[in-house]
Amino acid sequence: MYPEALAQLTCPSQPQVGLHLAPGATTNADGIVEHGTLTCATCTTRYPIRNGIADLLGPLALPTTPAQLTNYLPPTAWLYERTWRPQALSLLSGEPFGYSRELPLIARLMEPERPGIYLDVACSNGLYARALAQARGGAPGHVVGIDHALPMVQEGRRFAQQAGLRISFVRASAQALPFAAGSVAGVAMGGSLNEIGDVNKALAEMRRVLAPDGRAVLMNLVQARTKGGRGLQRVLGFGGVAFWPMGMLNQHFADNDLRLAAQWRYGVVVFSLLLPG
Ligand SMILES: C[S@@+](CC[C@H](N)C(=O)[O-])C[C@H]1O[C@@H](n2cnc3c(N)ncnc32)[C@H](O)[C@@H]1O
Repeated sequence: MYPEALAQLTCPSQPQVGLHLAPGATTNADGIVEHGTLTCATCTTRYPIRNGIADLLGPLALPTTPAQLTNYLPPTAWLYERTWRPQALSLLSGEPFGYSRELPLIARLMEPERPGIYLDVACSNGLYARALAQARGGAPGHVVGIDHALPMVQEGRRFAQQAGLRISFVRASAQALPFAAGSVAGVAMGGSLNEIGDVNKALAEMRRVLAPDGRAVLMNLVQARTKGGRGLQRVLGFGGVAFWPMGMLNQHFADNDLRLAAQWRYGVVVFSLLLPG
C-alpha cells in the first residue's frame, strides 16, 4: 500500500469515514506499507495490511457463485494473465484484439492525465491498473487495483512490481468500495461486470465514488447474436455469469445514474464510456 492510497481509503461499511494506519506498521524502501493495521475511527473495525495488500474483507467473506469461487483459487490467479487473458478478446470478438489494441483504447477513453485516484475494480491481475499507471506517467494521483479474491491481487502486485509501476492493491468488494463519494477520477472495469454478483449495487458504488468530472470505462460481454453462442452463455449462467442484451446492459447503467457517452461492440465484447448522469 502506497501512502497516496492510504490517504484516500475509507471504511467499507462507512465510506465517508477514513481509515488510519495504526502505529507499528512496517514500510519498505519504496515507501510501501508492507505490514500494518488500518482502523476505522468510527466503528473501530481493524483491517490488516499483509505483504503490501490491505484486506478489507477478512476470512469470512466467501464467493457466492461458482465463477467467483474459481477466481479465489491460487492456480486460477496464476494462470489468468499467463494463458487466457491475452487471447480472450480476440476469441470473444472474432477479430484480432490483442493488448496492443485493447489497452490504448482503455487509456484513451479514461483520459488518465487528469489528476486523482483511478480504480481498476474487480481487477484480477491488474491489467487495466497497469495500463492506466503506464499511461499516467508522473501525473499527480494514484492507481488502485481492487478485487475480492486475495490470490488475484497478490498476483497483481507481483505484475505491477515487475513492471516497476506504483500501484496499490486492496482486497475489497465491488459492492462496497472503500472510497468517499465523489473522490475518484476514474473507474475501469474489464470483463468483470458479467460475474460481479449484485450488478446494480456494483454500478451504484461506481457512480457514488466518481467525481463530478469522473469517467468510468467498462469492457464487458453481452448476449451473443447466434443461437450456439446464446446456448453456451446459458450454461455459463448456471455458474453465475450473466450476459445481458445490449438494451438491458444500458438500462442497468441508466438505472444507476451513469450516462452512456460512447459505446463500441465487437462480437460479444462491448466497451462503454460512462459519465456521471
Ligand atoms: C473476468 S475477471 C476480470 C479481469 C480483469 N479485470 C481483466 O480485465 O483482466 C473477473 C474478476 O472479478 C473479480 N470479482 C468478481 N466479483 C467481484 C466482486 N463482487 N467484487 C470484487 N471483485 C470481484 C474476480 O475475483 C475476478 O478476479
